[in-house]
Amino acid sequence: MHESYRDRIRMPSLLTRVTTATAAAEWIRDGMTVGMSGFTRAGDAKVVPMALAERARSEQLKITLMTGASLGSDVDKTLTEAGVLARRIPFQADATLRSAINRGEVMYIDHHLSETVELLRTQQIAPIDIAIIEAAAITETGALIPTTSVGNSASFAILADKVIVEINLTQSPDLEGLHDIFIPKRRPLREPIPIMTARDRVGGHAIEIPPEKIVAIVVTEKSDSSSTILPPDGETAAIAGHLVEFFRHEVNAGRLTEKLLPLQAGIGTIANAVMSGFIDSPFSGLTMYSEVLQDSTFELFDAGKLDFASGSSITLSPQKSREVFGDIGRYKDRLVLRPQEVSNHPEVIRRLGIIALNTALEADIYGNVNSTHVQGTHMMNGIGGSGDFARNAYLSIFATKSLAKDGRISSIVPMVSHVDHTEHDVDILVTEIGLADLRGLAPRERAEVIIGNCVAEPYRQMLRDYVAEASRRGGHTPHLLEQAFSWHTRYRLTGSMLPAA
Ligand code: COA
Repeated sequence: MHESYRDRIRMPSLLTRVTTATAAAEWIRDGMTVGMSGFTRAGDAKVVPMALAERARSEQLKITLMTGASLGSDVDKTLTEAGVLARRIPFQADATLRSAINRGEVMYIDHHLSETVELLRTQQIAPIDIAIIEAAAITETGALIPTTSVGNSASFAILADKVIVEINLTQSPDLEGLHDIFIPKRRPLREPIPIMTARDRVGGHAIEIPPEKIVAIVVTEKSDSSSTILPPDGETAAIAGHLVEFFRHEVNAGRLTEKLLPLQAGIGTIANAVMSGFIDSPFSGLTMYSEVLQDSTFELFDAGKLDFASGSSITLSPQKSREVFGDIGRYKDRLVLRPQEVSNHPEVIRRLGIIALNTALEADIYGNVNSTHVQGTHMMNGIGGSGDFARNAYLSIFATKSLAKDGRISSIVPMVSHVDHTEHDVDILVTEIGLADLRGLAPRERAEVIIGNCVAEPYRQMLRDYVAEASRRGGHTPHLLEQAFSWHTRYRLTGSMLPAA
């Protein structure tokens, strides 16, 4: 094994805890709740979970697994295939786990990402027995230096009885100093989080825990998984174009300056591509107060558009990852990674006046948004941080392509088949067709703007017909309840929301 791990474990007495992944995994017993580092494929525990899956081949082993958000390195896939996962909290984005959730084999609890550790701290959910945390180093006092994500790692390590550390030698030691670990006090003595701008640092650089809680240290050389997002295309460029035009209008109206307000961009291809579109915008001096920092964050830095980015993880494509982590020093003074309960904290989001950009799977004619359930039943990923931001943002924007599955699905439907974000939390809806500014509009007005601005034909005429008939029947929010899900039903029966020709 690589000897340089000794430089990374700076408390000499802890060197005796270095062991193999198999031996470390022995600390985990059937029925335990395990908290693992990892947020959107960044900074996840990588080898102890695999050893756990291996053990499950020969013994009964079921756990509740909590993380920051989704994992990479096929950890969720491997644990699912080994039958280890009884319950999974609070977010995932893995195809194998998704199928097991939708078969009802894994109980998935999909949280607002800011809330999981609040629930743990107040013992409203089962406590963490053991935490497995990836670290770049352990300090002289036994504190953990996180790697490419903070997520829930700090509170997991603080609240767990025992901690296993994965020291990852592929993670740059220069990551030290990037993190800002602030843990809110317990209520009723909690004070405001003193973050006044995205760049403020309010905590320490490391996760402080009693070193005697560290029961095992495993040295790994396994890199983070790359992001799976696709490059921008014509439709995402059109969405970005509509948003740039909208912000230009807001600046002209005196509601925003050319620095806008701190930006949040959700996970996935669409939000990343839209942010990349800001490179060719008139705005500069931008800041981000976001959750996952994707390729677009660094493209905006390099284009001189972005001054500072606060997040909870960094998840990049292979090439961007080489560029950024090969020379993290270039960006370090413009970046901070925080615990997700701070990056996503409703009070901070409201006070800073965040412009939040998240993605809808589908939206309805009144602006309700479904971000999680395909056809109202099948989990895609989870709500993630979108609700933390949408509910509390200065401007809550939802983007989606107007069509999915080669036009067989309209992303704008009469009534969403599942509601994650209600009409009250959606200010702007934007597709490649256009943008609907819903601020100050009543439901009947919202329907007109959404259908007129955001929907592709022939679905636009179908929605106009629906609204006309529903409006004749009356109501504040007119609907034809017997037809409201007819598009979803038609898709299930025929494979298309379009009526037979
Ligand atoms: N019905 C069924 N499937 C749909 C659909 C709809 N109305 N709209 C999109 N899809 C499918 C797409 O076809 C695509 O399928 P594929 O993977 O088989 O190609 C998939 O959903 C992803 O859609 P895509 O258009 O590529 O968007 P994306 O990568 O930007 O992801 C979400 C969109 C909604 C799935 C993703 O943003 C998400 O999980 N959001 C919830 C969590 C969140 O917002 N976190 C943000 C805070 S950081």
